[in-house]
Amino acid sequence: YKRVTVKSLVDMKATGEKISMLTAYDYTMAKIVDSAGVDVILVGDSASNVMAGHETTLPITLDQMIYHASSVVRAIYRALIVVDLPFGSYQSDPKEALRSAIRIMKESGAHAVKLEGGKEIKESIKRILNAGIPVMGHLGLTPQSIYKFGTYTVRAKEEQEAERLLEDAKMLEKLGCFAIVLEKIPAKLAKQVAKSVSIPIIGIGAGPDVDGQVLVLHDMIGMTHEFNPRFLRRYLNLYEDMSNAISQYVDDVKTQDFPNESESY
Ligand code: KIV
Ligand code: NA
Repeated sequence: YKRVTVKSLVDMKATGEKISMLTAYDYTMAKIVDSAGVDVILVGDSASNVMAGHETTLPITLDQMIYHASSVVRAIYRALIVVDLPFGSYQSDPKEALRSAIRIMKESGAHAVKLEGGKEIKESIKRILNAGIPVMGHLGLTPQSIYKFGTYTVRAKEEQEAERLLEDAKMLEKLGCFAIVLEKIPAKLAKQVAKSVSIPIIGIGAGPDVDGQVLVLHDMIGMTHEFNPRFLRRYLNLYEDMSNAISQYVDDVKTQDFPNESESY
């Protein structure tokens, strides 16, 4: 395999090849995602919801993110691995942000970090980039700020917020970020942002006119079934398939159908 790098992603934007990105939090899933050809694997802080069952992304810790990230790193041959800096590990001051990013890089072996926000975390992003750590930005719906907004509805519908987002995207490019995730914003605005910067824009609920797409793996394979935003396309219904398989197993154990002779020593 030829490894995906931050450089190859920027080249993909230049040549018009769309970038595919999915989350993974563990070795077994990451192995499937990588070998199926996904370009970027995000060890997202959505692990807080998907893996740990929390209502928001806020509770997950840096240590827990490092555990998930190192499990993913052991599985990958090709994809670029990006890890979310969790809530509380970078907002206090730029030095703390750099320390957190260094811990992720050293202790997990991942290739890049992702931080939520624009202007307000400019100094932290600068410091991390100065240390040679690639940074992916994240604008629009930023789930770590859920209590500031109160809802997970579409962001930047108002002119003022849209302008601020465009400015933030240009600032992230200028600082040296290699890509930006845009979450849940109008397709028209996402298109404008993608046209205005030369680094790849990866959308989730940001329409088709961006440079790549990202989804949460467990949502796109239908393992979760209570989360149904418009932007989510389900490729499997694993919640149902797994439930049926497991019920069948329970039944087979109860009726002593399992194990049979050929399954015994
Ligand atoms: O944590 C996550 O899964 C994310 C993606 C939704 C972009 O940040
Ligand atoms: Na995230």
